[in-house]
Amino acid sequence: HDATPFLPGPRAGLPGLRKAAARCQGCPLYRAATQTVFGEGDPDARVLLLGEQPGDQEDRQGRPFVGPAGKVLRRALADAGIDPERVYVTNVVKHFKFTIAEGRKRRIHKAPTLREMTACRPWLEAELRVVSPEVIVALGGTAGKALLGPGFRVTEQRGALLPWPGLDETGDAAGTGGADKAISGLVATIHPSAVLRADDRTAVYDGLVADLRLVADVLA
Ligand code: URA
Repeated sequence: HDATPFLPGPRAGLPGLRKAAARCQGCPLYRAATQTVFGEGDPDARVLLLGEQPGDQEDRQGRPFVGPAGKVLRRALADAGIDPERVYVTNVVKHFKFTIAEGRKRRIHKAPTLREMTACRPWLEAELRVVSPEVIVALGGTAGKALLGPGFRVTEQRGALLPWPGLDETGDAAGTGGADKAISGLVATIHPSAVLRADDRTAVYDGLVADLRLVADVLA
């Protein structure tokens, strides 16, 4: 079971994909979430940034990276010399997964399973085909694992231009029809929410910006 039956035709652009993804029931996460949060940004972006899944704010607003992590991300992009208006941002999983602690109201983010990541993958493949970025930025462990496999470790692989393994590497059935040929590489870094959780926010933030500067250099 995955998102494939919900995909529009191969010629669909981002608006068509977004519309179709709104009805996705390719995994059970749609039941508890408010809505699908599809990627957004510049359709001609040279950089595609990949997060994990929408958070609480994203789930309510239906847009990726509009909460606290998104604020950190946009500031870091700007500090690294990348125009936040000229990137495309999306997530490995397009529905918010959460638990509610007993007797409480707040929805706590829960990491998606490999199965959920795989089920949602056709949407990411379609986004890569349409946007056709030059560089992909994996924000955090989930994004890194989705693109590079379960052995990915942020601490070991961040801040370097890694070769793009192609989407087939990690079990892709549909493929991107060769559209990922334009991708010159992948840069992994921490998830921006790690800055918010850190004791030394400044140092962790500076590390994020340093990794993103490499992306700016690759594009220059
Ligand atoms: N964290 C993510 O990984 N993605 C979002 O869209 C928001 C927060």
